[in-house]
Amino acid sequence: MTAPLTEPAYAKLNLTLDVLGKREDGFHDLRMVMQSVSLHDDIVLTPTEEPGIRLTTNFSFLPTDGKNLAIIAANAFQQATGVEMGGLRIRVDKHIPVCAGTAGGSSDAAAVLRGLNRLYQTGLTPEQLAKIGESVGSDVPYCVLGGTALAEGRGERLKRLPALPDCAIVLCKPSFSVSTPELFHRIDSFKLRCHPDTAGMLKALEAGSLQGVAHRLYNVFEDVLPPQQGNAIREIRQSLIESGALGACLSGTGPTVFGIFEGEEEAKKAAAQLSPAYRETHVVRPV
Ligand code: C5P
Repeated sequence: MTAPLTEPAYAKLNLTLDVLGKREDGFHDLRMVMQSVSLHDDIVLTPTEEPGIRLTTNFSFLPTDGKNLAIIAANAFQQATGVEMGGLRIRVDKHIPVCAGTAGGSSDAAAVLRGLNRLYQTGLTPEQLAKIGESVGSDVPYCVLGGTALAEGRGERLKRLPALPDCAIVLCKPSFSVSTPELFHRIDSFKLRCHPDTAGMLKALEAGSLQGVAHRLYNVFEDVLPPQQGNAIREIRQSLIESGALGACLSGTGPTVFGIFEGEEEAKKAAAQLSPAYRETHVVRPV
């Protein structure tokens, strides 16, 4: 019997997020600069005698059936590789906030793909695993690769970028949740006034300029949030900036807001300001 294998599933942030238009398949063409951070779930894969895939998790409200992206990913891996998996137990130890715009579910799915590739020694490249991930969710291909990357198309056209300079990042998730399909729907009926300076962001990364990156953080979804949620997001951003963040922005379709700091001490102070009101506040680093 093979020993259990643990694979980390890192949260992602959007340094930029642009929606370029709606496609015929109902999805949207995007252009995003993505960054993975140290906050992570742990995925433990254990082969079992008993056939079938079983999932357990520390978050009692998460689905543990075929709706969980981790199980969808395991099935997609099995189909794509034809590997005889026998039975599999998937343990998902969650630390990434759920429904937060930080790709927790997609990252778990990506970690399952990477982990199964190691467990069954199938020797697939990250690009091949990312391809399998496309059918699981739009952010899964990026989560397979991680690091700093440009994602285009539905999210599957990926290009590695120079790493974000080391820094401290505060993540803060307010308690309300935002429906991703609904926000995409709202964006279709808005004329976006501003777009991120993606080219400038790429240049700032190329130059290794943390200031340049922080000054170009931009996410078009901030402009289409319902007013009450928009106000809550602006309040958190304001607090981060007043605490010394070089820049702050919404991640994905939210509601997580993050701020970039030069040093850990400043970031910890900023987090201490927010955590009494926002329980899900974390200080992380880029990975
Ligand atoms: O692919 P995923 O299941 O993560 O997408 C969730 C929802 O987000 C989709 O049903 C769609 O409404 C929206 N979406 C989109 N265009 C993308 C990615 C997601 O419209 N590129």
